[in-house]
Amino acid sequence: MSNQEDGAVPLLAARDLVKAHGRTEALRGATVELRPGEILAVTGASGSGKSTLLHCLAGIVRPDSGAVTYGGERLDRLPERRLSELRRTEFGVVFQFGQLIPELTALDNVALPLLLGGARRQEAQASAGEWLERFGVRGQEELRPGEMSGGQAQRVALARALVTGPKVVFADEPTGALDSLASEQVMSALTHTARESGTAVLLITHDAQVAAYADREVRLADGAVLPLEVGV
Ligand SMILES: Nc1ncnc2c1ncn2[C@@H]1O[C@H](COP(=O)(O)OP(=O)(O)O)[C@@H](O)[C@H]1O
Ligand SMILES: [Mg+2]
Repeated sequence: MSNQEDGAVPLLAARDLVKAHGRTEALRGATVELRPGEILAVTGASGSGKSTLLHCLAGIVRPDSGAVTYGGERLDRLPERRLSELRRTEFGVVFQFGQLIPELTALDNVALPLLLGGARRQEAQASAGEWLERFGVRGQEELRPGEMSGGQAQRVALARALVTGPKVVFADEPTGALDSLASEQVMSALTHTARESGTAVLLITHDAQVAAYADREVRLADGAVLPLEVGV
């Protein structure tokens, strides 16, 4: 993915996305752009299609119609093998419940994407340790997910999403299960590290205080992005 240095060129774009789950039309012509390094909040009521939009943009789900482009390339047309490689190398994802692997320690959870990418164990663990430190969870390396607080688990999940140096992080209500203090800690760690590393973030939230961390906000209603884009 080259020629993405110019901030005016979208890194990732969805155009007129339509996606049905059975009879439910989750997306009805959603259009949105994410610029390189931008932190974009996508807000909207429950059921408005936010998660479906994220899944389409992250190449997890294929839209029924419309286009998803990543660095000018049609993501929705890529073969599954190329898509999964792209997801592993250029995208990071974090969900409401971090979905860490319960049997692995914090350190091993964060090291895992690097090991899957072929890194040596020692290097992977050293890098994982640095990312845990950036997210303020150094000292928790040996904890397993069941032994962490919700806020700690989310910070470990974010470290895991960022450890490979992705171009885009997709975060679906990453603070949805946290109290407001833990939410603030997670959001400030996420936005700080994303800005530092130039990583774009697609942040889904229905919490205005969380959306306020973004550079820009768009609102979904009934599967479409409302025409008015709200600068935050
Ligand atoms: N896998 C699914 N099967 C059936 N319906 C679904 C599925 N996923 C989402 N939906 C429906 O699609 C609509 C949009 O869902 P979703 O994208 O999850 O919205 P949001 O994240 O904004 O709550 C909702 O009506 C939801 O019930
Ligand atoms: Mg959702």
